This record gives sequence, C-alpha cells and structure tokens, in this order.
Amino acid sequence: MITLSVIKADIGGYVGHSESHPLVLEKADEWLAKAKKSKTLVDYHVTKCGDDLQLIMTHERGVEDETIHKMAWDTFLDCTKVAKELKLHGAGQDLLSDAFSGNVKGMGPGVAEMEFEERGSEPVLIFMADKTSSGAWNMPLYKMFADPFNTIGLVIAENMHAGFTFEIHDVKAHKKISLNAPDEIYDMLLFMGAPGRYAVKAVYHRGSNEIAAVSSTDKLSMMAGRYVGKDDPVCIVRSQGEFPAVGEVLEPFSNPILVEGWMRGSHNGPLMPTSIAQSIPSRFDGPPRVVCAGFQLSNGKLVGPRDMFDDLSFDRAREMAGEIAYYMRSHGPFEPHRLPLEEMEYTTMPQVAKKLEKRFTDI
Ligand code: F6R
Ligand code: MG
Ligand code: MG
Repeated sequence: MITLSVIKADIGGYVGHSESHPLVLEKADEWLAKAKKSKTLVDYHVTKCGDDLQLIMTHERGVEDETIHKMAWDTFLDCTKVAKELKLHGAGQDLLSDAFSGNVKGMGPGVAEMEFEERGSEPVLIFMADKTSSGAWNMPLYKMFADPFNTIGLVIAENMHAGFTFEIHDVKAHKKISLNAPDEIYDMLLFMGAPGRYAVKAVYHRGSNEIAAVSSTDKLSMMAGRYVGKDDPVCIVRSQGEFPAVGEVLEPFSNPILVEGWMRGSHNGPLMPTSIAQSIPSRFDGPPRVVCAGFQLSNGKLVGPRDMFDDLSFDRAREMAGEIAYYMRSHGPFEPHRLPLEEMEYTTMPQVAKKLEKRFTDI
C-alpha cells in the first residue's frame, strides 16, 4: 500500500499574500530530500499555489502518521525561520500552535491524504487553491463523480455506472454523513450546495469501495476562533480506469465558479484555473486561483508533475474569470461580492461592528 499525503501551509507571503519566496521552497526541498534519503519518504515534490507552500509526499506509513506529520511540521517551522529572516508577509501565519502533538490536524496546516494499492497505471491529480475555503471543491467534485453532463463515463463506462459515495463534513458542527450518487443526489445537494458549512471530505467508488478523492477540510477561522486567513484547500483525485478520465476530472474547472475567500477572506470571486507559475493572485489579492499538478505514480515515485492548467484550452476559463472579476468588483463593499453577513462573522468585521454597538437604539 502506498500513501499519498499533501500537507500545506501559508508560512509567509512574497509580496504581501501574492506569492511564495523561492528560498522558502528551497528550504522545504532540503527537508524532504533528507526524508527521502533516510527512506521515510518514497518520493516528494515541493510546490506552491500563491502564498501557500505545498508538500506532496509518498510513503508507506499510512494516513495521519506521526513521523510524516512531525516532519512536515518541522519543515514548516524551519521554512518560517527563512520567512522571518526575509521578513516575508505573515511569516508563520498558518502555524497556530507551538507544540506538536501527534499530527498536524487542528494546528493550522491543511491536510489531504489517501492510502491505496497502486494500480498498473495510477494517474493522480493534485488540486491546490489559494484565496478560498475548503468547500470550494464541492461543485467540482459533484461534477466529476455525479454529473453525467460532465463525466460521460458515468453513463457509458460499465465500471463507473454504479456511481460514487460522498463523505460530507459539517465543518461547523463537526459531524459527517455519507450519501450515494446517483440515488441520493437530491439529498446530497441540499448540503453540498452550502459550501461555507458542508465540505466534501472524500469520495469512494461504490463497487470497489476504493478511495477516489480526498480533500482538506481544515477551517482556519474555526480553529483559531478569530480570522487568521483562508483555508486555501487541497484535493487529491485518482483518475482513469474505474475513476473519471483526466479530462473529466479537469472539465469542471472550465467554468470559473464563484467561491468565497477573495480579499481579506471576505469576498466572493471567480475560481481561476492557472498554471502554477501564474498562481500569483494580485488583483484585489485575487481572484482566487486553482492549480493542478498531475503525476503518474510508479511504485510510489511521483512521475511528474505535469502542470495541468498550463493549457490553451483553459484560456477561455481564465478570460471568463477576468470578466466575472470585473463584474463582481463593481459591487464594491456590497453583497453578494462581499460575503453574506453570517459568514462575515469569521472575518475581522465583528471587531469593527462592536465599536458601534452602543450607537444602535430601538426603532
Ligand atoms: C485573503 C488574503 C488577503 C489578506 C489581505 C490583508 O485571503 O490573504 O486578501 O487578507 O491582504 O492582509 P493582512 O491582514 O495580512 O495585512
Ligand atoms: Mg498569506
Ligand atoms: Mg494562501
């Protein structure tokens, strides 16, 4: 069995919250190279999405393994030192705790991990987003694994016809539910359609029970009890064979859907698919980005990455996202560009509102 772990954190932005500094990535590479040499890791790839440092790792230790999580945590700590030396913006911002206790869950970094038996051909797609929150994967995952208008394989491929099971997490009440597509799609959409509260954690093939996708659902604002930045989630998707084809997995991102998390984590904006190099959210600190690193696994070795959105066929999605960005921005501080009031509770707005509390009188 092989485990694919993606652990990420914003440990400092360059410039502002727009990008990651090459020296930080270099430091992370040093750590993971050491871990590969000592055989803790089978393989790794260090990359970034905007201001988020992404550690992509394969190993044989299973999910939530203490050694792997500790190594990732120590890597982030050491990278924070580099970030502090360079006085990068918000150095160490996602490291919410100063004592490691078993695994990084609940400590600030985002985690997506899956363990599986590697197939004869094992294409994996790793999605990474910046300036948005964990529920951003809900609609893309629904389209990949439940929508025949996106994934024709659900209709005409015999090995997908039985559908997929979605594990949905209530990120506020800390509860989960598993629902089956296609028979329970109406029930599923009741929850998935509210991505601020419900996030798809994992998807399983209904025939084989094999894991098909897993995402990070860590909610930074819920952990810290105050606004400390956006989740900037990641998602791993297995492809081909009994899973959607690579093109079916990427297709949902051809429509730049509105997601929350733009500027001060307080605005809705279009999710723009770009190359990794172009994940440099600069316009009004955005618009939100999604990148995708594709790999073929070979006995745990990460053959790749291929920068999947570095493709002309996503140019129109980028243009559309640009247009939508102009339109949304024209609303300025008004909803629905600004998040709905209940969501603003998880931003810095409550402190400002508090000052005016006494000025409110009865009508
Ligand atoms: C959005 C984001 C940025 C910051 C903004 C203010 O997720 O990261 O839009 O919220 O640049 O940043 P600070 O408070 O660090 O000055
Ligand atoms: Mg940042
Ligand atoms: Mg970020």
